[in-house]
Amino acid sequence: VIIDEHGAMARVVAQRIATLMRERSAAGQTLVLGLATGSTPIGVYRELIRLHREEGLSFRHVVSFNLDEYYPMRADSIHSYHRFMWENLFSHVDIDAANVNIPDGSLARADVDAACAAYEAKIVAAGGIDFQLLGIGKTGHIGFNEPGSGEHSRTRLVHLDSITRRDAAADFFGEENVPREALTMGIATIMAAREVAILATGEHKSGIVRRSVEGEIDRAVAATFLQRHPNTTFYVDDAAAVDL
Ligand code: GLP
Repeated sequence: VIIDEHGAMARVVAQRIATLMRERSAAGQTLVLGLATGSTPIGVYRELIRLHREEGLSFRHVVSFNLDEYYPMRADSIHSYHRFMWENLFSHVDIDAANVNIPDGSLARADVDAACAAYEAKIVAAGGIDFQLLGIGKTGHIGFNEPGSGEHSRTRLVHLDSITRRDAAADFFGEENVPREALTMGIATIMAAREVAILATGEHKSGIVRRSVEGEIDRAVAATFLQRHPNTTFYVDDAAAVDL
């Protein structure tokens, strides 16, 4: 879907999420959201906050699982995805903090594997992800599934690609401060979501959008696996669509 009008993409995606939230809460059921960080989804979060404030959209029946977190990373660091999610969404809505799940970047290395397995188990116990929101990195990563991530991968500790670390350098006041590793849901975790929305805006994403949508399915570009997902929508603006 190509949507170029400023703000319209965020409204369309937020409306879809809001519809699912309302349907589930009317049935007394929870909705499990998979959430993403980065600059691209911020507009969706702003719109959800507006719907909460102006239309009473409630997050009381939402359980959320975030895709990823840098490692090592303290939750209260200005660079953490924990902080990002609370600042850009959770603090402004009525979600129960006990229903918020974000990989814990402060764990000791010895505890990481067990925590990743527990994260996967918790998603399954919650009923699986109903709707997964995604951005895309310049390497084609979804979450932090860098080139080489296999289709059977699950939540785990990964090394960050040098392109990804360079892209994050401004946020960390220098590339040398960007963590070398991250915790991320795997390709298989994402592919198990019932519905996926992947968003990309700007000319700098046009090459990777083309490769993801039109290229061969290949572990060199994680987003290509979504071509096999039965219910994925790729939302792009004119600039990101220019190479399609
Ligand atoms: C980071 C995140 C990804 C995100 C990507 C693109 O690497 N881990 O989830 O999609 O950045 O970020 P942006 O939306 O700012 O271009």
